[in-house]
Amino acid sequence: MKKSKMYIDKNFVIDKVDNRLFGSFIEHLGRAVYTGIYEPDHPKADEKGFRKDVIDLVKELNVSIVRYPGGNFVSGYNWEDGVGPKEKRPKKLELAWRSLEPNEFGTNEFIEWCKLVNTEPMTSINLGTRGIDEARNFVEYCNFPGGSYFSDLRKQHGYNDPHNIKVWCLGNEMDGPWQIGHKTALEYARLAEETAKVMKLVDPNLSLVASGSSGWHIPTFGEWEATVLEHTYDYVDFISLHAYYDNYENNIENFLAKSIDMDSYIKSAVAACDYVKGRKKTNKTIYISFDEWNVWFHSRKEDEKVEPWQIAPPLLEDVYTFEDALLVGLMLITLLKHADRVKIACLAQLVNVIAPIMTRKGGGAWRQTIFYPFMHASNFGRGTVLQPVISAETYDTKDFKGVPFVDAVPVFNEEKNELTIFAVNRAQDKIEFDCELKGFEDYSVTEHIILENNDLKAVNTEDNPDNVKPHNNGNARNEDGKVKAELSPLSWNVIRLKK
Ligand code: AHR
Repeated sequence: MKKSKMYIDKNFVIDKVDNRLFGSFIEHLGRAVYTGIYEPDHPKADEKGFRKDVIDLVKELNVSIVRYPGGNFVSGYNWEDGVGPKEKRPKKLELAWRSLEPNEFGTNEFIEWCKLVNTEPMTSINLGTRGIDEARNFVEYCNFPGGSYFSDLRKQHGYNDPHNIKVWCLGNEMDGPWQIGHKTALEYARLAEETAKVMKLVDPNLSLVASGSSGWHIPTFGEWEATVLEHTYDYVDFISLHAYYDNYENNIENFLAKSIDMDSYIKSAVAACDYVKGRKKTNKTIYISFDEWNVWFHSRKEDEKVEPWQIAPPLLEDVYTFEDALLVGLMLITLLKHADRVKIACLAQLVNVIAPIMTRKGGGAWRQTIFYPFMHASNFGRGTVLQPVISAETYDTKDFKGVPFVDAVPVFNEEKNELTIFAVNRAQDKIEFDCELKGFEDYSVTEHIILENNDLKAVNTEDNPDNVKPHNNGNARNEDGKVKAELSPLSWNVIRLKK
Protein backbone atom coordinates (compact mmCIF):
# COMPACT_ATOMS: atom_id res chain seq x y z
CA MET A 1 0.00 0.00 0.00
CA LYS A 2 1.24 3.53 -0.77
CA LYS A 3 2.19 5.51 2.32
CA SER A 4 1.84 9.15 3.25
CA LYS A 5 2.71 11.15 6.34
CA MET A 6 1.64 14.44 7.73
CA TYR A 7 3.18 16.42 10.60
CA ILE A 8 1.11 18.99 12.44
CA ASP A 9 2.40 21.29 15.16
CA LYS A 10 0.01 23.54 17.10
CA ASN A 11 2.62 26.31 17.05
CA PHE A 12 3.12 26.34 13.28
CA VAL A 13 0.34 28.61 12.22
CA ILE A 14 -0.45 29.86 8.70
CA ASP A 15 -3.19 32.26 9.79
CA LYS A 16 -6.70 32.52 11.14
CA VAL A 17 -9.27 31.60 8.51
CA ASP A 18 -11.31 34.60 7.46
CA ASN A 19 -14.91 33.39 7.59
CA ARG A 20 -15.44 35.03 4.21
CA LEU A 21 -13.40 32.21 2.66
CA PHE A 22 -16.64 30.24 2.50
CA GLY A 23 -18.52 32.62 0.25
CA SER A 24 -20.52 32.08 -2.90
CA PHE A 25 -21.98 34.00 -5.79
CA ILE A 26 -25.41 34.78 -7.26
CA GLU A 27 -25.48 36.43 -10.67
CA HIS A 28 -28.41 37.48 -12.82
CA LEU A 29 -27.60 34.63 -15.15
CA GLY A 30 -29.74 31.73 -16.28
CA ARG A 31 -31.83 30.37 -13.41
CA ALA A 32 -29.65 31.51 -10.50
CA VAL A 33 -32.11 34.20 -9.37
CA TYR A 34 -35.38 33.43 -11.17
CA THR A 35 -36.54 29.87 -10.38
CA GLY A 36 -33.38 29.48 -8.30
CA ILE A 37 -33.53 31.56 -5.14
CA TYR A 38 -36.66 33.48 -6.20
CA GLU A 39 -39.84 31.91 -7.58
CA PRO A 40 -43.01 33.55 -6.25
CA ASP A 41 -45.31 30.88 -7.77
CA HIS A 42 -43.46 27.98 -6.22
CA PRO A 43 -45.38 26.03 -3.53
CA LYS A 44 -42.41 26.45 -1.19
CA ALA A 45 -41.97 30.19 -1.75
CA ASP A 46 -42.43 32.54 1.20
CA GLU A 47 -44.57 35.67 1.00
CA LYS A 48 -41.68 37.56 -0.66
CA GLY A 49 -41.16 34.89 -3.32
CA PHE A 50 -37.99 33.32 -1.89
CA ARG A 51 -37.84 29.55 -2.17
CA LYS A 52 -37.68 28.12 1.35
CA ASP A 53 -36.33 24.75 0.17
CA VAL A 54 -33.36 26.59 -1.36
CA ILE A 55 -32.90 28.71 1.77
CA ASP A 56 -32.60 25.53 3.83
CA LEU A 57 -29.92 24.13 1.54
CA VAL A 58 -27.97 27.41 1.51
CA LYS A 59 -28.08 27.36 5.32
CA GLU A 60 -26.64 23.83 5.32
CA LEU A 61 -23.72 25.19 3.33
CA ASN A 62 -23.23 27.91 5.96
CA VAL A 63 -22.26 30.40 3.25
CA SER A 64 -20.52 33.36 4.85
CA ILE A 65 -20.73 35.99 2.09
CA VAL A 66 -22.57 36.16 -1.25
CA ARG A 67 -21.38 38.24 -4.19
CA TYR A 68 -24.13 39.80 -6.34
CA PRO A 69 -25.33 40.77 -9.02
CA GLY A 70 -22.43 39.72 -11.31
CA GLY A 71 -20.26 38.63 -12.96
CA ASN A 72 -20.40 39.70 -16.57
CA PHE A 73 -23.98 40.85 -15.93
CA VAL A 74 -22.88 43.78 -13.80
CA SER A 75 -20.96 45.43 -16.65
CA GLY A 76 -24.24 46.34 -18.35
CA TYR A 77 -26.44 46.73 -15.27
CA ASN A 78 -28.23 49.84 -14.04
CA TRP A 79 -28.84 49.33 -10.34
CA GLU A 80 -31.74 51.80 -10.45
CA ASP A 81 -33.71 49.33 -12.63
CA GLY A 82 -33.88 46.86 -9.75
CA VAL A 83 -35.26 49.07 -6.96
CA GLY A 84 -38.66 50.64 -6.22
CA PRO A 85 -42.14 49.35 -7.02
CA LYS A 86 -41.88 46.11 -8.99
CA GLU A 87 -44.60 47.04 -11.47
CA LYS A 88 -42.57 50.07 -12.54
CA ARG A 89 -39.30 48.24 -13.07
CA PRO A 90 -38.18 48.00 -16.70
CA LYS A 91 -37.74 44.77 -18.59
CA LYS A 92 -34.41 45.07 -20.36
CA LEU A 93 -32.15 43.31 -22.81
CA GLU A 94 -29.35 41.80 -20.79
CA LEU A 95 -26.35 41.77 -23.09
CA ALA A 96 -23.77 39.68 -21.22
CA TRP A 97 -25.86 36.50 -21.47
CA ARG A 98 -28.30 37.76 -24.12
CA SER A 99 -31.38 37.19 -21.95
CA LEU A 100 -34.39 39.26 -21.00
CA GLU A 101 -34.05 40.78 -17.52
CA PRO A 102 -37.38 41.51 -15.79
CA ASN A 103 -35.71 43.27 -12.80
CA GLU A 104 -38.25 41.77 -10.41
CA PHE A 105 -35.36 40.97 -8.12
CA GLY A 106 -32.83 43.67 -7.26
CA THR A 107 -30.59 44.99 -4.51
CA ASN A 108 -33.25 45.25 -1.80
CA GLU A 109 -34.56 41.74 -2.43
CA PHE A 110 -30.98 40.49 -2.33
CA ILE A 111 -30.39 42.11 1.05
CA GLU A 112 -33.60 40.59 2.44
CA TRP A 113 -32.60 37.18 1.14
CA CYS A 114 -29.10 37.48 2.69
CA LYS A 115 -30.73 38.05 6.07
CA LEU A 116 -32.82 34.91 5.65
CA VAL A 117 -29.78 32.75 4.91
CA ASN A 118 -27.55 34.47 7.51
CA THR A 119 -24.95 35.65 5.06
CA GLU A 120 -23.08 38.88 4.41
CA PRO A 121 -23.85 40.70 1.15
CA MET A 122 -21.05 41.66 -1.23
CA THR A 123 -21.89 43.75 -4.26
CA SER A 124 -20.34 45.03 -7.48
CA ILE A 125 -20.56 48.28 -9.37
CA ASN A 126 -20.75 48.60 -13.12
CA LEU A 127 -17.47 49.87 -14.53
CA GLY A 128 -18.26 48.56 -18.00
CA THR A 129 -20.92 50.97 -19.30
CA ARG A 130 -20.93 53.27 -16.26
CA GLY A 131 -18.65 54.96 -13.77
CA ILE A 132 -18.14 57.34 -10.87
CA ASP A 133 -21.55 59.00 -10.75
CA GLU A 134 -23.66 55.84 -10.67
CA ALA A 135 -21.30 54.23 -8.20
CA ARG A 136 -21.45 57.06 -5.70
CA ASN A 137 -25.25 57.19 -5.97
CA PHE A 138 -25.47 53.45 -5.41
CA VAL A 139 -23.30 53.64 -2.28
CA GLU A 140 -25.46 56.52 -1.03
CA TYR A 141 -28.62 54.50 -1.72
CA CYS A 142 -27.34 51.43 0.10
CA ASN A 143 -25.27 52.76 2.97
CA PHE A 144 -26.10 56.38 3.80
CA PRO A 145 -28.41 56.62 6.85
CA GLY A 146 -30.80 59.28 5.46
CA GLY A 147 -31.45 62.94 4.70
CA SER A 148 -30.03 62.85 1.15
CA TYR A 149 -31.77 62.12 -2.16
CA PHE A 150 -30.67 58.51 -2.66
CA SER A 151 -30.79 57.46 0.98
CA ASP A 152 -34.31 58.89 1.23
CA LEU A 153 -35.24 57.04 -1.94
CA ARG A 154 -34.23 53.81 -0.22
CA LYS A 155 -36.46 54.75 2.72
CA GLN A 156 -39.35 55.46 0.34
CA HIS A 157 -38.79 51.99 -1.07
CA GLY A 158 -39.43 50.58 2.38
CA TYR A 159 -35.90 50.20 3.77
CA ASN A 160 -35.47 52.63 6.60
CA ASP A 161 -32.16 51.31 7.84
CA PRO A 162 -29.10 51.43 5.61
CA HIS A 163 -27.97 48.11 4.19
CA ASN A 164 -24.38 48.75 5.24
CA ILE A 165 -22.85 46.64 2.51
CA LYS A 166 -19.17 46.54 3.35
CA VAL A 167 -17.47 44.70 0.48
CA TRP A 168 -17.76 46.22 -3.02
CA CYS A 169 -16.16 44.99 -6.24
CA LEU A 170 -14.94 47.65 -8.64
CA GLY A 171 -16.35 46.06 -11.80
CA ASN A 172 -15.86 42.53 -13.05
CA GLU A 173 -13.19 40.92 -15.25
CA MET A 174 -12.44 44.21 -16.93
CA ASP A 175 -9.35 42.65 -18.58
CA GLY A 176 -11.49 40.19 -20.57
CA PRO A 177 -12.22 41.10 -24.21
CA TRP A 178 -15.71 39.55 -23.76
CA GLN A 179 -16.56 42.02 -21.02
CA ILE A 180 -19.02 44.80 -21.80
CA GLY A 181 -16.85 47.94 -21.66
CA HIS A 182 -13.57 45.95 -21.60
CA LYS A 183 -10.62 48.20 -20.82
CA THR A 184 -6.87 48.27 -21.00
CA ALA A 185 -5.08 48.03 -17.66
CA LEU A 186 -4.45 51.76 -17.55
CA GLU A 187 -7.99 52.70 -18.60
CA TYR A 188 -9.40 50.48 -15.87
CA ALA A 189 -6.83 51.48 -13.27
CA ARG A 190 -7.61 55.18 -13.58
CA LEU A 191 -11.37 54.67 -13.60
CA ALA A 192 -11.20 52.32 -10.61
CA GLU A 193 -8.96 54.75 -8.73
CA GLU A 194 -11.28 57.72 -9.20
CA THR A 195 -14.42 55.68 -8.57
CA ALA A 196 -12.97 54.15 -5.41
CA LYS A 197 -11.95 57.59 -4.15
CA VAL A 198 -15.46 58.94 -4.57
CA MET A 199 -17.17 55.84 -3.13
CA LYS A 200 -15.03 56.18 -0.03
CA LEU A 201 -16.00 59.83 0.29
CA VAL A 202 -19.59 58.63 0.66
CA ASP A 203 -18.70 55.75 2.97
CA PRO A 204 -15.12 55.56 4.29
CA ASN A 205 -15.76 52.13 5.79
CA LEU A 206 -16.08 50.32 2.47
CA SER A 207 -13.77 47.45 1.71
CA LEU A 208 -13.03 47.58 -2.01
CA VAL A 209 -11.98 44.83 -4.40
CA ALA A 210 -10.05 45.84 -7.51
CA SER A 211 -10.76 43.69 -10.53
CA GLY A 212 -7.75 41.47 -11.13
CA SER A 213 -7.11 39.19 -14.07
CA SER A 214 -10.01 37.00 -15.11
CA GLY A 215 -7.62 34.07 -15.19
CA TRP A 216 -4.01 33.20 -14.72
CA HIS A 217 -3.49 32.27 -18.34
CA ILE A 218 -4.73 35.52 -19.82
CA PRO A 219 -1.71 37.20 -21.50
CA THR A 220 -2.01 40.44 -19.51
CA PHE A 221 -1.76 38.67 -16.11
CA GLY A 222 0.79 40.29 -13.83
CA GLU A 223 1.15 43.48 -15.81
CA TRP A 224 -2.58 44.05 -15.24
CA GLU A 225 -2.32 43.58 -11.46
CA ALA A 226 0.77 45.80 -11.23
CA THR A 227 -0.82 48.64 -13.23
CA VAL A 228 -4.16 48.44 -11.42
CA LEU A 229 -2.55 48.41 -7.99
CA GLU A 230 -0.09 51.21 -8.86
CA HIS A 231 -3.18 53.41 -9.14
CA THR A 232 -5.64 51.96 -6.65
CA TYR A 233 -3.38 50.78 -3.81
CA ASP A 234 -4.45 53.40 -1.27
CA TYR A 235 -8.16 52.77 -1.81
CA VAL A 236 -8.54 49.03 -2.14
CA ASP A 237 -8.04 46.11 0.24
CA PHE A 238 -8.34 43.27 -2.26
CA ILE A 239 -7.61 42.24 -5.78
CA SER A 240 -9.84 39.58 -7.33
CA LEU A 241 -8.85 36.26 -8.92
CA HIS A 242 -11.11 33.94 -10.91
CA ALA A 243 -10.44 30.33 -11.96
CA TYR A 244 -12.51 27.58 -13.53
CA TYR A 245 -11.19 24.12 -14.36
CA ASP A 246 -12.37 21.43 -16.75
CA ASN A 247 -11.86 17.80 -17.62
CA TYR A 248 -12.61 17.87 -21.35
CA GLU A 249 -9.78 15.41 -21.95
CA ASN A 250 -11.27 12.96 -19.43
CA ASN A 251 -7.94 12.45 -17.70
CA ILE A 252 -8.51 12.01 -13.97
CA GLU A 253 -4.81 12.21 -13.02
CA ASN A 254 -4.35 15.51 -14.80
CA PHE A 255 -7.74 16.87 -13.70
CA LEU A 256 -7.08 16.27 -10.01
CA ALA A 257 -3.71 17.99 -10.32
CA LYS A 258 -5.37 21.24 -11.38
CA SER A 259 -5.52 22.53 -7.80
CA ILE A 260 -1.74 22.94 -8.22
CA ASP A 261 -2.47 25.45 -10.97
CA MET A 262 -4.72 27.32 -8.54
CA ASP A 263 -1.94 27.29 -5.95
CA SER A 264 0.58 28.73 -8.43
CA TYR A 265 -1.94 31.34 -9.55
CA ILE A 266 -2.42 32.54 -5.96
CA LYS A 267 1.34 32.67 -5.38
CA SER A 268 1.87 34.67 -8.58
CA ALA A 269 -0.91 37.12 -7.74
CA VAL A 270 0.50 37.60 -4.25
CA ALA A 271 3.91 38.27 -5.84
CA ALA A 272 2.33 40.93 -8.09
CA CYS A 273 0.67 42.58 -5.07
CA ASP A 274 3.91 42.56 -3.12
CA TYR A 275 5.86 43.92 -6.07
CA VAL A 276 3.69 47.04 -5.91
CA LYS A 277 3.93 47.06 -2.11
CA GLY A 278 7.73 47.10 -2.44
CA ARG A 279 7.68 49.85 -5.04
CA LYS A 280 5.43 51.94 -2.84
CA LYS A 281 7.44 51.19 0.30
CA THR A 282 4.26 50.82 2.27
CA ASN A 283 3.19 48.59 5.16
CA LYS A 284 -0.25 48.06 3.69
CA THR A 285 -0.83 44.56 2.31
CA ILE A 286 -3.31 43.80 -0.45
CA TYR A 287 -5.31 40.61 0.06
CA ILE A 288 -6.84 38.24 -2.44
CA SER A 289 -10.57 37.95 -3.08
CA PHE A 290 -10.84 34.69 -5.02
CA ASP A 291 -14.38 35.62 -5.88
CA GLU A 292 -15.05 33.07 -8.62
CA TRP A 293 -13.77 29.51 -8.47
CA ASN A 294 -15.17 26.15 -9.49
CA VAL A 295 -15.23 23.42 -12.11
CA TRP A 296 -17.04 24.58 -15.25
CA PHE A 297 -17.26 22.76 -18.57
CA HIS A 298 -20.15 20.27 -18.70
CA SER A 299 -22.73 22.74 -19.98
CA ARG A 300 -20.67 24.83 -22.39
CA LYS A 301 -21.74 23.06 -25.60
CA GLU A 302 -25.43 23.00 -24.60
CA ASP A 303 -25.33 26.72 -23.85
CA GLU A 304 -24.40 27.53 -27.44
CA LYS A 305 -27.84 26.23 -28.49
CA VAL A 306 -29.88 28.40 -26.09
CA GLU A 307 -32.14 30.88 -27.87
CA PRO A 308 -31.43 34.51 -26.89
CA TRP A 309 -33.79 36.94 -25.14
CA GLN A 310 -35.57 34.53 -22.85
CA ILE A 311 -36.24 35.21 -19.17
CA ALA A 312 -34.10 32.89 -17.03
CA PRO A 313 -33.20 30.25 -19.61
CA PRO A 314 -31.19 27.26 -18.40
CA LEU A 315 -27.57 28.38 -18.75
CA LEU A 316 -24.33 27.02 -17.25
CA GLU A 317 -26.26 24.16 -15.65
CA ASP A 318 -23.30 21.88 -15.08
CA VAL A 319 -24.33 18.55 -13.59
CA TYR A 320 -21.40 17.74 -11.37
CA THR A 321 -19.81 14.32 -11.16
CA PHE A 322 -18.13 12.65 -8.22
CA GLU A 323 -14.68 13.48 -9.66
CA ASP A 324 -15.64 17.18 -9.80
CA ALA A 325 -16.32 17.04 -6.06
CA LEU A 326 -12.78 15.76 -5.52
CA LEU A 327 -11.27 18.72 -7.38
CA VAL A 328 -13.54 21.11 -5.48
CA GLY A 329 -12.22 19.53 -2.25
CA LEU A 330 -8.64 20.02 -3.45
CA MET A 331 -9.38 23.64 -4.34
CA LEU A 332 -10.79 24.19 -0.84
CA ILE A 333 -7.61 22.71 0.65
CA THR A 334 -5.58 25.08 -1.55
CA LEU A 335 -7.59 28.13 -0.46
CA LEU A 336 -7.20 27.16 3.20
CA LYS A 337 -3.44 26.78 2.78
CA HIS A 338 -3.37 30.40 1.62
CA ALA A 339 -5.47 31.69 4.53
CA ASP A 340 -2.81 34.33 5.20
CA ARG A 341 -3.52 36.08 1.87
CA VAL A 342 -6.86 34.82 0.58
CA LYS A 343 -9.45 36.44 2.82
CA ILE A 344 -12.52 36.18 0.59
CA ALA A 345 -13.44 33.32 -1.75
CA CYS A 346 -16.70 32.70 -3.58
CA LEU A 347 -17.66 29.34 -5.01
CA ALA A 348 -19.18 30.31 -8.36
CA GLN A 349 -22.02 30.04 -8.22
CA LEU A 350 -24.67 29.01 -5.67
CA VAL A 351 -27.89 27.86 -7.34
CA ASN A 352 -28.45 26.27 -10.79
CA VAL A 353 -25.61 28.14 -12.53
CA ILE A 354 -22.40 26.07 -12.05
CA ALA A 355 -23.73 25.47 -8.59
CA PRO A 356 -23.81 23.12 -5.61
CA ILE A 357 -27.62 23.46 -5.45
CA MET A 358 -29.99 22.62 -8.31
CA THR A 359 -33.70 23.33 -8.58
CA ARG A 360 -36.52 22.53 -10.95
CA LYS A 361 -39.01 25.26 -11.79
CA GLY A 362 -42.07 24.37 -9.75
CA GLY A 363 -40.24 21.28 -8.50
CA GLY A 364 -37.59 20.11 -6.09
CA ALA A 365 -34.20 21.33 -4.93
CA TRP A 366 -31.25 18.98 -4.46
CA ARG A 367 -27.56 18.83 -3.59
CA GLN A 368 -25.00 18.33 -6.33
CA THR A 369 -21.83 16.31 -5.62
CA ILE A 370 -19.75 19.46 -5.03
CA PHE A 371 -22.15 20.50 -2.27
CA TYR A 372 -20.46 18.16 0.19
CA PRO A 373 -16.80 19.25 0.26
CA PHE A 374 -17.94 22.87 0.46
CA MET A 375 -20.36 22.09 3.29
CA HIS A 376 -17.67 20.25 5.25
CA ALA A 377 -15.03 22.94 4.77
CA SER A 378 -17.48 25.70 5.60
CA ASN A 379 -18.78 24.02 8.75
CA PHE A 380 -15.56 22.45 10.08
CA GLY A 381 -12.87 24.64 8.48
CA ARG A 382 -13.26 27.73 10.63
CA GLY A 383 -10.43 28.50 13.04
CA THR A 384 -6.69 28.63 12.42
CA VAL A 385 -4.92 26.88 9.57
CA LEU A 386 -1.81 25.03 10.69
CA GLN A 387 1.15 24.51 8.37
CA PRO A 388 0.88 20.98 7.00
CA VAL A 389 4.11 19.16 6.29
CA ILE A 390 3.20 16.24 4.05
CA SER A 391 5.33 13.54 2.60
CA ALA A 392 3.65 11.42 -0.03
CA GLU A 393 4.59 9.58 -3.18
CA THR A 394 4.12 11.62 -6.33
CA TYR A 395 3.10 11.14 -9.96
CA ASP A 396 3.53 13.06 -13.21
CA THR A 397 0.79 14.04 -15.65
CA LYS A 398 0.57 15.76 -18.99
CA ASP A 399 0.65 19.21 -17.40
CA PHE A 400 2.08 18.67 -13.91
CA LYS A 401 5.23 17.11 -12.46
CA GLY A 402 5.56 15.72 -8.93
CA VAL A 403 1.87 15.70 -7.98
CA PRO A 404 1.52 14.30 -4.43
CA PHE A 405 -1.02 11.50 -4.16
CA VAL A 406 -2.26 13.05 -0.94
CA ASP A 407 -3.07 16.67 -0.30
CA ALA A 408 -4.30 17.77 3.11
CA VAL A 409 -4.68 20.69 5.49
CA PRO A 410 -5.42 20.92 9.23
CA VAL A 411 -7.66 23.57 10.79
CA PHE A 412 -7.65 24.11 14.55
CA ASN A 413 -10.75 25.56 16.17
CA GLU A 414 -9.52 26.73 19.55
CA GLU A 415 -12.94 27.80 20.85
CA LYS A 416 -14.44 24.40 20.19
CA ASN A 417 -11.27 22.42 21.03
CA GLU A 418 -11.51 20.75 17.65
CA LEU A 419 -8.93 19.86 15.06
CA THR A 420 -10.12 18.95 11.56
CA ILE A 421 -7.95 17.45 8.85
CA PHE A 422 -9.22 17.72 5.27
CA ALA A 423 -7.49 15.26 2.95
CA VAL A 424 -7.87 14.03 -0.62
CA ASN A 425 -6.44 10.80 -1.93
CA ARG A 426 -5.70 11.37 -5.63
CA ALA A 427 -4.61 7.76 -6.14
CA GLN A 428 -6.70 4.95 -7.60
CA ASP A 429 -5.73 2.73 -4.69
CA LYS A 430 -5.76 2.97 -0.91
CA ILE A 431 -3.13 5.07 0.86
CA GLU A 432 -1.89 4.71 4.40
CA PHE A 433 -2.08 8.11 6.11
CA ASP A 434 -0.08 8.60 9.30
CA CYS A 435 -0.38 11.87 11.09
CA GLU A 436 2.00 13.01 13.82
CA LEU A 437 0.50 15.67 16.01
CA LYS A 438 2.39 18.01 18.33
CA GLY A 439 0.34 19.90 20.87
CA PHE A 440 -2.74 17.72 20.36
CA GLU A 441 -1.76 14.74 22.51
CA ASP A 442 -5.08 14.86 24.38
CA TYR A 443 -7.20 14.99 21.21
CA SER A 444 -8.98 11.92 19.86
CA VAL A 445 -10.69 11.10 16.59
CA THR A 446 -14.45 11.57 16.83
CA GLU A 447 -15.44 11.18 13.20
CA HIS A 448 -13.99 10.32 9.80
CA ILE A 449 -16.30 11.44 7.01
CA ILE A 450 -15.63 10.13 3.50
CA LEU A 451 -16.95 10.99 0.07
CA GLU A 452 -16.10 8.08 -2.21
CA ASN A 453 -17.68 6.37 -5.18
CA ASN A 454 -16.82 3.55 -7.58
CA ASP A 455 -18.10 5.60 -10.48
CA LEU A 456 -16.12 8.78 -11.17
CA LYS A 457 -18.97 10.07 -13.33
CA ALA A 458 -21.72 9.48 -10.74
CA VAL A 459 -24.08 12.44 -10.35
CA ASN A 460 -27.06 13.46 -8.23
CA THR A 461 -30.38 14.24 -9.88
CA GLU A 462 -33.83 15.21 -8.66
CA ASP A 463 -34.89 11.55 -8.94
CA ASN A 464 -31.72 10.19 -7.40
CA PRO A 465 -30.51 12.98 -5.11
CA ASP A 466 -28.44 10.76 -2.79
CA ASN A 467 -26.51 8.85 -5.42
CA VAL A 468 -23.31 10.59 -4.28
CA LYS A 469 -23.22 11.45 -0.62
CA PRO A 470 -20.74 11.16 2.21
CA HIS A 471 -20.73 8.54 4.97
CA ASN A 472 -18.91 8.63 8.27
CA ASN A 473 -17.56 5.11 8.45
CA GLY A 474 -13.93 6.07 7.88
CA ASN A 475 -11.27 4.19 9.80
CA ALA A 476 -9.22 7.10 11.20
CA ARG A 477 -8.13 6.31 14.75
CA ASN A 478 -5.62 7.23 17.44
CA GLU A 479 -2.82 4.67 17.47
CA ASP A 480 0.73 4.76 18.90
CA GLY A 481 0.39 8.45 19.68
CA LYS A 482 -0.55 9.24 16.06
CA VAL A 483 -3.68 9.54 13.98
CA LYS A 484 -3.77 6.74 11.43
CA ALA A 485 -6.13 6.05 8.57
CA GLU A 486 -6.33 4.26 5.27
CA LEU A 487 -7.66 6.73 2.76
CA SER A 488 -10.00 5.10 0.23
CA PRO A 489 -9.04 5.33 -3.44
CA LEU A 490 -10.00 8.71 -4.93
CA SER A 491 -11.67 10.07 -1.83
CA TRP A 492 -12.42 13.28 0.06
CA ASN A 493 -11.83 12.84 3.81
CA VAL A 494 -12.72 14.89 6.86
CA ILE A 495 -11.02 13.62 10.01
CA ARG A 496 -12.31 15.32 13.14
CA LEU A 497 -10.59 15.30 16.51
CA LYS A 498 -11.77 16.69 19.81
CA LYS A 499 -10.23 17.18 23.26
O1 AHR B 1 -19.58 32.76 -13.28
C1 AHR B 1 -19.85 32.85 -14.64
C2 AHR B 1 -19.05 33.96 -15.33
O2 AHR B 1 -17.69 33.63 -15.32
C3 AHR B 1 -19.10 35.31 -14.66
O3 AHR B 1 -20.18 36.07 -15.07
C4 AHR B 1 -17.83 35.95 -15.14
O4 AHR B 1 -17.31 36.88 -14.22
C5 AHR B 1 -16.90 34.78 -15.38
O5 AHR B 1 -16.28 34.86 -16.62
